Amino acid sequence: MLDRLDTKYIDLLLLHQQFGDYLGAWKDMEKAVKAGKVRSIGISNFESERLEELCEAANIKPSVLQVECHPYYPQNALKKRLAPYGTVIESWYPLGHGDKGLINEAVFTKLAKKYGKTNVQIILRWHIQQGNIIFPKTTNPQHMKDNFDIFDFSLTADEMKEIAKLDNGRRFFNMSLEDQEKNLGAWSPAD
Ligand SMILES: NC(=O)c1ccc[n+]([C@@H]2O[C@H](COP(=O)([O-])OP(=O)(O)OC[C@H]3O[C@@H](n4cnc5c(N)ncnc54)[C@H](OP(=O)(O)O)[C@@H]3O)[C@@H](O)[C@H]2O)c1
Repeated sequence: MLDRLDTKYIDLLLLHQQFGDYLGAWKDMEKAVKAGKVRSIGISNFESERLEELCEAANIKPSVLQVECHPYYPQNALKKRLAPYGTVIESWYPLGHGDKGLINEAVFTKLAKKYGKTNVQIILRWHIQQGNIIFPKTTNPQHMKDNFDIFDFSLTADEMKEIAKLDNGRRFFNMSLEDQEKNLGAWSPAD
């Protein structure tokens, strides 16, 4: 990986899926940390009991768990499971994969007007105040600038509570674990 990336070390390396020899893979990733080749290691898409299995077996606990997380699916239960390991959520689909229905929710439009921000900036600020790490994807340079410009205002506790009411259990990526394992290599949620 270092050769391919033409770099001396990797900041954060993730184990993408909870399939195959994931415990063996984690051990190898721990070795890479000890060798100074990787600074932090984390996991992605571990939401079954394999999450606890890996965390209990790990000498180095995952620094992050990268999973789908946005105001419709804030991952509150998963956060409680992660607390004992000090692992934090890194949200994929932080904007619901750009879903217009989510972005245009009335509460975001109202708060955008109040703070002089865009609806997307309100959602990203919500993530930060929830303690989530975010990496929204954009190919638009102005959006990229906007997405960094969320550190000069704060949502109030009442506003956070109002946004919490959007939690409706809706996920934008829906594939059963069985199908994910069966089609491994042939798909990626990032598609
Ligand atoms: N670990 C995993 O299994 C996994 C699974 C899925 C996704 N991911 C990763 O998660 C990251 C995010 O996923 P995603 O791109 O699908 O979803 P996303 O970040 O929730 O949404 C991206 C969409 O939001 C729009 N957007 C971004 N910033 C905006 C702004 N300031 N104003 C208006 N629109 C804005 C983008 O359009 P524009 O380009 O027009 O700005 C794009 O359509 C990606 O890097 C992806 O690879 C990881």
